Amino acid sequence: MKRVLIAPSILSADFGRLAEEIGMIERAGADWVHIDVMDGMFVPNITIGPVVVRSIRKTTKLVFDVHLMIEDPGRYVGDFADAGSDLITFHIEACKDPVSIIGKIRDKKKRAGISIKPGTDISRLKGLLDKVDMVLIMTVEPGFAGQAFMEDMMDKISTVRKNYSGLIQVDGGINAETAKTAISAGADVLVAGSYVFGTKDYGAAIRKVRGDFT
Ligand code: DX5
Ligand code: ZN
Repeated sequence: MKRVLIAPSILSADFGRLAEEIGMIERAGADWVHIDVMDGMFVPNITIGPVVVRSIRKTTKLVFDVHLMIEDPGRYVGDFADAGSDLITFHIEACKDPVSIIGKIRDKKKRAGISIKPGTDISRLKGLLDKVDMVLIMTVEPGFAGQAFMEDMMDKISTVRKNYSGLIQVDGGINAETAKTAISAGADVLVAGSYVFGTKDYGAAIRKVRGDFT
């Protein structure tokens, strides 16, 4: 079976000890750090800005996987790129001209991802798949950690998988059980927030999500 990448979401970390928490997931075998950026407009919650990304960038070599849940993301992709993001994902529902945003991310020599909310049809991705490195399929409504995995999104994953050879990321409600479902549907990268940071042994949680029981 292919090796999936695990991206713990620091949304569920202790923000008062962020550098330490990132060090712990790095030592525990995480592949990427998933950074959830929320603006209080596209989603009701407010989280992290570029200034925080810049500070934590100095503390780890892990890939920074930045998930922008913000309106009009084109305004900020440059700032997040300069702060040290490696991959920047934005929502198709939040912008009018996704191609120009992908261009801005590419101008900064970063990888680009596009995300869709549970209620958005994958037909919205038409003409974009060959332009992005990753498609992020949400399995919860974006905005908060700790919600239940929407199993009915698996059809979306399988359909994108048939037409797309880039990375498919799945985000929301991932635990040891739902991870198996997402991997069988075709996921390459799994985001896990509360499941990893909600346990004492981050390494064990990451291995369980990966499906590695050795
Ligand atoms: C939700 C975020 C997720 C969230 C995942 O809006 O995009 O990354 O932190 O949290 P869990 O794994 O707890 O569902
Ligand atoms: Zn996310």
